[in-house]
Amino acid sequence: MTKNVQWWQQEVGYQIYPASFKDSNQDGIGDINGIREKLSYLKELGIGFIWINPIYSSPFVDNGYDISDYQEILAKFGTMAEFDLLLTEAHQMGIRVIMDLVINHTSDQHKWFIESKKSVDNPFREYYLWADSTAESAPNEWQSIFGGSAWTRDEETDQSYLHVFAKEQPDLNWENPKVREELFTMIRWWLEKGIDGFRLDAISHIKKEDYAIPATANPFSPFQNVAGIGEYLTELKTIFDEYDIMTVGEASGVSAAEGPQWVGKAGYFDMIFEFDHISLWNHEEQGVLDVVKLKQALTEWQNSLAGKGWNALYMENHDVPRSVSAFGDDENYWLESAKALGMMYFFLQGTPFIYQGQEIGMTNMAFESIEQVDALDSRKLYQRLLQEGHTPAESLAIIRSTTRDNSRTPMQWTNEKFAGFSSEKPWLVVNPNKDIINVKAQSKEPNSLLSFYKKMIQLRKQHTALVTGQFKEYLPQHKQLFIYERAEASEQFLIMVNLTAENAAFDLTTEKLAEDWSVVLTNQLDEHRFDFIGEFAPYEARMYQRKSF
Ligand code: NOJ
Ligand code: CA
Repeated sequence: MTKNVQWWQQEVGYQIYPASFKDSNQDGIGDINGIREKLSYLKELGIGFIWINPIYSSPFVDNGYDISDYQEILAKFGTMAEFDLLLTEAHQMGIRVIMDLVINHTSDQHKWFIESKKSVDNPFREYYLWADSTAESAPNEWQSIFGGSAWTRDEETDQSYLHVFAKEQPDLNWENPKVREELFTMIRWWLEKGIDGFRLDAISHIKKEDYAIPATANPFSPFQNVAGIGEYLTELKTIFDEYDIMTVGEASGVSAAEGPQWVGKAGYFDMIFEFDHISLWNHEEQGVLDVVKLKQALTEWQNSLAGKGWNALYMENHDVPRSVSAFGDDENYWLESAKALGMMYFFLQGTPFIYQGQEIGMTNMAFESIEQVDALDSRKLYQRLLQEGHTPAESLAIIRSTTRDNSRTPMQWTNEKFAGFSSEKPWLVVNPNKDIINVKAQSKEPNSLLSFYKKMIQLRKQHTALVTGQFKEYLPQHKQLFIYERAEASEQFLIMVNLTAENAAFDLTTEKLAEDWSVVLTNQLDEHRFDFIGEFAPYEARMYQRKSF
């Protein structure tokens, strides 16, 4: 690899949702020792770093995103000593460890908030965002991202506190220098432990507008990427810059045009998770993917960061339904579409993240009743749908296609009763398709999705053009195919993916493309050669290479 390339640009990341990854002590909940057991699996896959969702002390109202102690491990996940072992063992295997950093809010059970709530003159009052309210009216009309008012009233002190998410997740007051100091000390404590970076949760929300400012068409505008946020982010960056780590910010509401302000040398983070492509999936109904819009969303980021910053590439995470169900076709073209989606995003400029189970094509879960659903926001939405007059069956159908629990069902390791995740009943239902979709079945199968992901990772490791090469798109208006090139002086790659379940004809004759391409990876069985005019089968995906000497 070229000297100037950072480790986090060369590697492929893997996101672990610990509660659902591997249960080592058979209580139905995944844990730290479970992750340790599976490090060799990740090594074999070719993973360079893992991002672990929150494992800190937490009442678990929002599955760990409500932290009550930043420097303790939640007992059901294990102990700090076990975490230290995980860190050491991962490092010994050449796998770096990225922790989730949730500093927009804490749990309402955090000692700071317990104090803060006691009285208006408690020294911790200013750690959170309190404002006068009455029994009838909140301080303003702002709405929480999880639904309902963003304010919860405390009768005792006659004030309300702000929460961008659940009421059990009060927002921290970043304007208070003491709050920042406490958080920065905690951040340094983790960095001194030797972790390799952070994924910064909800980081575009830490700055709020004046309470008199109403929301725009975007209901979350008063607390999303608000002017002046850079001041706080720069303070964070100053700390991060002291360490050889990577940072990836969860940056909802940041546009591609603003990208260079947020990432790269001039920005606050090494990468950010943008939301443009992921929000194209209609979260309320089973919609049809608008391929042109998807391509636009992705290429906009490719172009805006070209030469300036680095992308975080992803198709899935713990907050969205499974990609093969949402963007692909998990009924008729499960394997082809999962491979096509994989190839589509994997070779863009940036660092690819794989969300656990994505590499074996885990699908959405056909939840049988709302009782099977755990996610707080989905349960709330279900109630709202009933109130709005939807039948229970209609409401459940909407939940099924939208809930983030789709991606939180236990990892499917084998076809055993609980998918080899645990020998006891897991905290969330196992998808019955574990009989067919599981790691064990795919690990020896050369045509499996798992084998395909391994090949993609190897290709990315072998060819610098796939890391640092320039991105160029062809036929941007094509309604079915995503075609792009990654090129450096010595080698070029062409990626062509049909993102639909129909045949797709193309004509590249006027595109001034080079000749002499040979197939290096495909989801088809035949070895068909490159042509300027042709037709791709449903979800056909091909990656071509060209060497210039
Ligand atoms: C984003 C996280 O990914 C999500 O799971 C969580 O509910 C919210 N931030 C609040 O922390
Ligand atoms: Ca366990």
